[in-house]
Amino acid sequence: MKFFIDTANIDEIKRINALGVLDGVTTNPSLIAKETGKPFEEIIAEICQIVDGPISAEVIGLEAPAMIEEGRRLSKIHKNVVVKLPLIAEGLKACKALSAEGIHTNVTLCFSATQALMAAKAGATYVSPFVGRLDDINLDGMELIREIVAIFENYGFATQCLAASIRQPRHVTDAALAGAHVATIPTKVFDQMLKHPLTDKGVEGFLADWKKSGR
Ligand code: E4P
Repeated sequence: MKFFIDTANIDEIKRINALGVLDGVTTNPSLIAKETGKPFEEIIAEICQIVDGPISAEVIGLEAPAMIEEGRRLSKIHKNVVVKLPLIAEGLKACKALSAEGIHTNVTLCFSATQALMAAKAGATYVSPFVGRLDDINLDGMELIREIVAIFENYGFATQCLAASIRQPRHVTDAALAGAHVATIPTKVFDQMLKHPLTDKGVEGFLADWKKSGR
């Protein structure tokens, strides 16, 4: 399973990248909006210098021609830029056009298996089902991941299932068990994934015993 980080914060990206477990980055307009002071495209360019992997940058336009133009512009920032498009009719048209030009796409805001199937048929590189937002409305976000993975396997789609809207380490475990190709993980969840009280207690105990031995 690939790990992407779901943030546009440069310090967070640098810190998690230093762990050696990061395969890519996803951003969205809300995450970019939190990073004040720098233009959008500059932030994406900076991220591309830090992480050598797919970096998702989302379009703002709502009509296919505007999305396509924006997507082309974003893809010129760096070879690793993946153009993120909303899973609406215009987004699908833009996905088809950009994919035909060899531009990688991440079709986002996916909340059903049929939406994912449509994105795959339009040539999406990634489709992003939002687990946490489905859980928030008392639906089973992980069931959607299982359905998408099974459907993509049934038909041999090259589109990768990118589990998004991850809220807790359990989501990562379950997405991995379901066979999701990628999980995009917020920084806080990366920290939670690594931490275990028994590991800390174990390290403390080993050091204390070592000191006692007088070596
Ligand atoms: C995906 O690429 C989105 O940026 C993200 O996972 C959305 O997560 P949220 O529901 O926590 O905003």
